[in-house]
Amino acid sequence: MRDLNEHTITDAAQDSFANTPNPRLKTLVQALVRHLHDFVRETEPRFEEWQAAIDFLTQTGQMCSDVRQEFILLSDVLGVSMLVDAINHRQPAGATETTVLGPFHVVGAPQPAHGADISAGLPGEKLLVEGTVTSATGQPVPGAVVEVWSADQDGFYDVQRPELEGPALRATFHTDQAGRFHFWTVMPAYYPIPDDGPIGRLLAATGRHPYRPAHVHFMISAPGYERLVTHIFAEDSPYLEGDAVFGVKSSLVEAFAKREPGTAPDGHVLDQPWRHLARRFGLKPAAALAPQAD
Ligand code: BEZ
Ligand code: FE
Repeated sequence: MRDLNEHTITDAAQDSFANTPNPRLKTLVQALVRHLHDFVRETEPRFEEWQAAIDFLTQTGQMCSDVRQEFILLSDVLGVSMLVDAINHRQPAGATETTVLGPFHVVGAPQPAHGADISAGLPGEKLLVEGTVTSATGQPVPGAVVEVWSADQDGFYDVQRPELEGPALRATFHTDQAGRFHFWTVMPAYYPIPDDGPIGRLLAATGRHPYRPAHVHFMISAPGYERLVTHIFAEDSPYLEGDAVFGVKSSLVEAFAKREPGTAPDGHVLDQPWRHLARRFGLKPAAALAPQAD
């Protein structure tokens, strides 16, 4: 392995991994070498460009902390997160489509009673969310764990507001015997993904905006089913056509219906206009339980 040149170095670098004991790791690392070398051959970076790329990745790593994952953000804005999601979630008919998890999920959100208002006093247009969790074939799923979270009327999650004393606009519910749950929150706004770091600078340098359309996040788990990670997007939000992380699917866009002051279906009396989202979530059977192909 000497006298390598631009025509022979790719094979040599791939062959250096030939004895990798784990076959999947071998496939991944050899494909990585092949594609990276092709990228370099195609773009022929100057040394300063290569150094700039190293600096960018270094800054991306340095931006990461317990509460910030800049590499996932990079994966998101390059469309890689949604590509991985699409490959891993080829949904059967009747199962709700998936989208990105995002960085604002918090493990161990409060578990209020059905019908609770989870806005913790934050201002905004009241929103009633009524959900039903079913199998892909429409059978209700009782006891499913439903985690919900969303931004506020200014486009901030609670974890982005250090002045808040506790969780807001997030909760965990368990579906009832008919697979249902419901809660009150406030209408979320569209918002920018965290853009004060290297990924924000990448977007600015490439003339891209950082915005995501208004949405409510749902993560739903139940024994025997694949965990569903999705959002429901508001039909009247800006940026449905230009989501910075490529996460919008038509099947996940819903009217957050405008309602006049009065009595809501759960008996709640409102003296201001409010919004109403009603939605079914279909779960995909867990892989081990899926019917086997012949
Ligand atoms: C979110 O929807 O919370 C989100 C997703 C990807 C990147 C940033 C935020
Ligand atoms: Fe979000």
